Amino acid sequence: MPADLNPIDKAKFVAAKRAVDFVQDGMKLGLGTGSTAAWMVRCLAERVRDEGLRVTGVPTSRRTAELATSLGLDVRTLDEVRWLDLTIDGADEFDPNLNLIKGGGAALLQEKIVATASDQMIVIADAAKEVSRLGAFPLPVEVIPFGWQTTKALIEETLVSMDVLNREVSLRMNGERPLVTDEANHILDLHLGRIGNPRQLALVLNQIPGVVENGLFIDICDIVVIGEPDGKVSVR
Ligand code: 5RP
Repeated sequence: MPADLNPIDKAKFVAAKRAVDFVQDGMKLGLGTGSTAAWMVRCLAERVRDEGLRVTGVPTSRRTAELATSLGLDVRTLDEVRWLDLTIDGADEFDPNLNLIKGGGAALLQEKIVATASDQMIVIADAAKEVSRLGAFPLPVEVIPFGWQTTKALIEETLVSMDVLNREVSLRMNGERPLVTDEANHILDLHLGRIGNPRQLALVLNQIPGVVENGLFIDICDIVVIGEPDGKVSVR
């Protein structure tokens, strides 16, 4: 373990390292995005270097692609590989059914495509990401820039029709400008507090013109590896 890690990074590191134990020789892997996923990419590169493990990685963002390439991993596009054995990624929240909120790092679109194209998805998280109900973390929704304010209004109307109490929707900014994702879209963050029916919300949001994808990952994750600040790891 790298020296001088703060407690949260230690929790992320131990979860990432344990998840990389699931990787077997010859696997095609989805490589997630975010600070926890970055530890996973580093741990994976270490196994490739030290054990001669042969793996192919499909990154879920430009950031991850740059990191994986810089560490010498064999990086391919999803179109080259088509189907993956395993995706390992972080999450912003996970609930007892292993449903997730993702997209805090604005990469939810590629992350969902890659995870869905995988036989198995393992989420790596520090223990603080575990919730009894999703929604304290603002739900990211990727929208196309054209008419985003209309899309925002349609999302707000939808939330009213679903009797959602807290329904503030904000455009994610990058300094003074709207954030632009790797797919050249924007992100609307839905501050809901609590999501009563994540499955229904995920379906309804994706019916709205202008919405590309939402950050609810329902029935996609198979295993969560949870790291604690004291270095303990549990697998759910
Ligand atoms: C990026 C994501 C990340 O996996 C999520 O935000 C968790 O990030 P971190 O590991 O830095 O806490 O969904 O879109």
